[in-house]
Amino acid sequence: MRIVLVGPPGAGKGTQAAFLAKNLSIPHISTGDLFRANISKQTDLGKLAKSYMDAGNLVPDEVTIAMAKDRMEQSDAVNGFLLDGFPRNVSQAEALDEMLKAESMKLDAVLDLEVPEDEVVKRIAGRRICRNDSAHVFHVTYQAPKAAGVCDTCGGELYQRDDDSEETVRKRLEVYHTQTEPIIDYYKAQGLVVTISALGKVEDVTGKAMAALKGDGEGE
Ligand code: AP5
Repeated sequence: MRIVLVGPPGAGKGTQAAFLAKNLSIPHISTGDLFRANISKQTDLGKLAKSYMDAGNLVPDEVTIAMAKDRMEQSDAVNGFLLDGFPRNVSQAEALDEMLKAESMKLDAVLDLEVPEDEVVKRIAGRRICRNDSAHVFHVTYQAPKAAGVCDTCGGELYQRDDDSEETVRKRLEVYHTQTEPIIDYYKAQGLVVTISALGKVEDVTGKAMAALKGDGEGE
């Protein structure tokens, strides 16, 4: 399956993607995680991306699309992928359509995670991620690690993302509404969108998402 996951910052895209990718045996491709890996390795791409991410803005399309394309062309993605955080505006969605069309491929679904803004703010305020791998995600109360500050998966140090400050989160939410939400209409026109509420326990949301992707959930 080729799936796009969409939802506001802090909706739980990364959290759900880890379970959905495992259940569906497809790789989880997160452009945010790819940028963070470049930042930790201090690559030129990482240095460029950090200046945009810290301000809550989108990294320019040119570099983002090239990075996503490169990742989607890797051998583990030939039979499908779960995209998390890409596309993030209509130009990126059009570029993805072009890429897929060139390979005679198409998307199967766009899973839209709905979460009210006050809940998103609580989720982001308590989020802690692992220094070794930003896909290892916890929450100080909702998804607490067994030992405070230590990653259950690999023992790495947990920290708060630089772009999770109150001011940057406000900017990220504004960017989501103005630039990313329009892709939902773009994909609705293609009949691809399934919307679920991402409130509730993580495992219950995964169950609803799997049901919606199979076409027997509460999606549109
Ligand atoms: P990115 O890393 O993609 O951030 P985001 O979209 O803002 O999403 P988040 O990672 O903040 O949240 P999430 O929905 O994954 O939530 P999570 O699972 O962690 O992008 C960061 C930046 O990179 C962007 O601002 C931009 O600058 C740049 N970028 C990335 N892609 C780009 C692109 N395509 N183009 C241009 N720029 C790009 O969950 C949040 C918290 O809630 C966690 O603590 C978790 O434990 C908890 N939680 C999850 N589910 C539940 C639940 N059901 N109940 C209670 N708590 C829960």
